[in-house]
Amino acid sequence: MSTLSQYPDLKTIIDYGRWAPSGDNTQPWRFKIVDSEHFDIHGFDLRDHCVYDLKGHASHLALGILLENLSIGAATLGKKIIYQLEAQSSEQKPVIHIRLETSNDTDFTQLAPYIPTRTVNRRSFSTQKLSATDKQHLEKSVQPLKVIWFEGKEKFKTTRLFFDSAGIRLTIPEAFATHSSIIEWDSQFSRDKMPDQCLGSSWITTQLMKFALKDWHRIHFLNRYLAGTWLPRIELDIIPGLFSAAHFILYSDTAPQDITDYIESGRLVQRFWLSAAEKGIQLQPQTTAMIFAQYYLQNIPFTASKKNIKACKKLTDKLAQLISPHCSVEQIVFIGRVGYGQPARSRSIRLKLDELVS
Ligand SMILES: Cc1cc2nc3c(=O)[nH]c(=O)nc-3n(C[C@H](O)[C@H](O)[C@H](O)COP(=O)(O)O)c2cc1C
Repeated sequence: MSTLSQYPDLKTIIDYGRWAPSGDNTQPWRFKIVDSEHFDIHGFDLRDHCVYDLKGHASHLALGILLENLSIGAATLGKKIIYQLEAQSSEQKPVIHIRLETSNDTDFTQLAPYIPTRTVNRRSFSTQKLSATDKQHLEKSVQPLKVIWFEGKEKFKTTRLFFDSAGIRLTIPEAFATHSSIIEWDSQFSRDKMPDQCLGSSWITTQLMKFALKDWHRIHFLNRYLAGTWLPRIELDIIPGLFSAAHFILYSDTAPQDITDYIESGRLVQRFWLSAAEKGIQLQPQTTAMIFAQYYLQNIPFTASKKNIKACKKLTDKLAQLISPHCSVEQIVFIGRVGYGQPARSRSIRLKLDELVS
């Protein structure tokens, strides 16, 4: 903190950045101050141990979200950020150099108040449809990415997709290490994990998950003999899936290829998410179907479970059908659900500035 206390502007800007959402609240970044106008972001991805971080894409999207927050934060001070990815740094440990410049550009500064208040809501929303104005507002916010909306009866198909991908998520041993380490039990808030109360499950299901996630053999037993995935899938996927105004898929005209494409997409995803918050629209990402389908299409083995590889093929075909003729699975950047409702009372908070900055 001593370094930052000399640079109040950097402190403000990085504090906005700190609130960026990341997969499972992993916050895959640290900051190194250079001087009053320069700092570096040291990113890291989780592909080695987290099945949801296919080739680091989820972490790279999150880095883009972080940059968008930094950019909006800088604009509130009459500055802009110029970023440069260090060419020699690896995609697994990207280093991004940030330079501040004076600027009169106030685009998106109206989103600044929503940076700390925006949060995932995994519970049921109102089923009232989004107004045409709100939909247009969201579509405009995310350009040049495009939006496919699923509303009314269409939501049954996407809910089924969420349900099927949860079937894979909850039964592959490769996801166990992640699931068993990312939840902070008996908590409303968590600085570096997800508090169990933000998951949206009932008390009984939460207790069941807490018991099962202590040991893979328990999960295996519950799944095999007691249909263990049904309760969590009904509570975490079917009910919230149906109780939404709409589901959405964000896609790019061309499939993102490298870390820069994912970073740029992440910036746009955050504009969409903050614009939803601005309109009082709740949002939950639902990215696992996209991730499993992309593993499948790229022929990258992600599980030893043959049954789940078969299930993944079916899931991929269903997803491809749902988005045809708009785009291909490779072009998808983000999937989620939205609706009007009250913000979540339990949420992930963040590591403190002095834990993130040196
Ligand atoms: C790239 C990305 C993918 C995510 N995927 C999911 C998801 O599939 N399901 C979900 O419930 N949350 C998902 N999240 C939300 C994170 O878990 C959440 O942002 C993080 O725990 C911090 O919480 P907060 O956004 O409430 O501050 C995702 C977030 C990001 C940035």
